[in-house]
Amino acid sequence: MTLLQEAPPQTALNPIWIGNVYIETPLTLAPMAGQTNHAFRTMCREMGDCGLVCTELISSQAIHYKSKKTWHMFDWTKAERPFAVQLFGNDPAMMAEAAKLVVDHGADIVDVNMGCWVPKVVKKGGGAAMLNDICNATWVVEAIVKAVTVPVTVKVRSGIDPDHITAIEFAKIAEKSGVKAIAVHGRTADQGFTGSANWDIIRQVKEAVNIPVIGNGDVKNAADAAQMLSETGCDGVMIGRAALGNPWLFHEIAHEIRTGEALPKPTASERAAAAIRHAQLSVESSTIGERQTIYELRGQLTKYHLGVPGAASVREQLVFAESLADVEAILEPYL
Ligand SMILES: Cc1cc2nc3c(=O)[nH]c(=O)nc-3n(C[C@H](O)[C@H](O)[C@H](O)COP(=O)(O)O)c2cc1C
Repeated sequence: MTLLQEAPPQTALNPIWIGNVYIETPLTLAPMAGQTNHAFRTMCREMGDCGLVCTELISSQAIHYKSKKTWHMFDWTKAERPFAVQLFGNDPAMMAEAAKLVVDHGADIVDVNMGCWVPKVVKKGGGAAMLNDICNATWVVEAIVKAVTVPVTVKVRSGIDPDHITAIEFAKIAEKSGVKAIAVHGRTADQGFTGSANWDIIRQVKEAVNIPVIGNGDVKNAADAAQMLSETGCDGVMIGRAALGNPWLFHEIAHEIRTGEALPKPTASERAAAAIRHAQLSVESSTIGERQTIYELRGQLTKYHLGVPGAASVREQLVFAESLADVEAILEPYL
């Protein structure tokens, strides 16, 4: 008699290929508007084990009309490679045109946003609104795949609302259309960020397609990542909010999954140094001037919780910082 052995749960961090792009550690940084700019993406890559970074969503329409503000978002550098540039929009020709342009500017992967639920994006038929019109979403994806030579990926929510769960059906169509990986945020669009992500949808998508599936939603630590990998069988884990002010997270998770041992948490000094580095990188790569850059960065800097007495007052001071020198002066006592 042969005893059928159950396959061991998938908790290993196996490298993945997205088309011809090799991702050594399948832990990826989620695209986040106003957060995942050049400086933060670089920080996550530098700290190790962040296998892929992604820009925030960029409007294909704004690229078409050559909006100056959008050109500031073309801030990626080779040091971040491999990286994905995320586009949104619902016009196949415009999306294809934008995809070509970002690839000409060095993008390794073009990602299509089909999850953003903010009215500004949805009203224009982009982001999560695409989940309502699978037919047009397919045209968009096909047009981009045809237009560029780099891999095309999509990031979806599970559906528009609980009565319209489209991620599984669309994943199959996307695979047929030539998409090379799909990231699934296990919330419906109408949930925004409320409730919790339904990882079972990620499992269903994984079972439906042969391209890599990246699970997303509510992963905060190694235990969550390991649980998502084993419960859903997904090939990679995408992390958003928990990485903010915490670019070490990918390395911490990878180390713990690989060795079973948690790394010590970064010290206050390491956190202060990282916040300063974040500010320096931001100013170095800025096209909007130091003052404006620091204004826009204040929120991100306050996320580096120093975890020491007086940390609250550091945060209060950071929200008034006007220059890199101000940021350095506030944080240097903790180095
Ligand atoms: C501030 C913020 C901005 C975001 N911007 C984007 C975006 O530009 N494109 C996108 O696909 N998702 C965006 N998201 C969603 C995240 O990529 C991710 O799907 C979501 O935060 C769930 O993952 P998490 O639980 O690890 O944070 C954003 C989320 C946050 C918190």
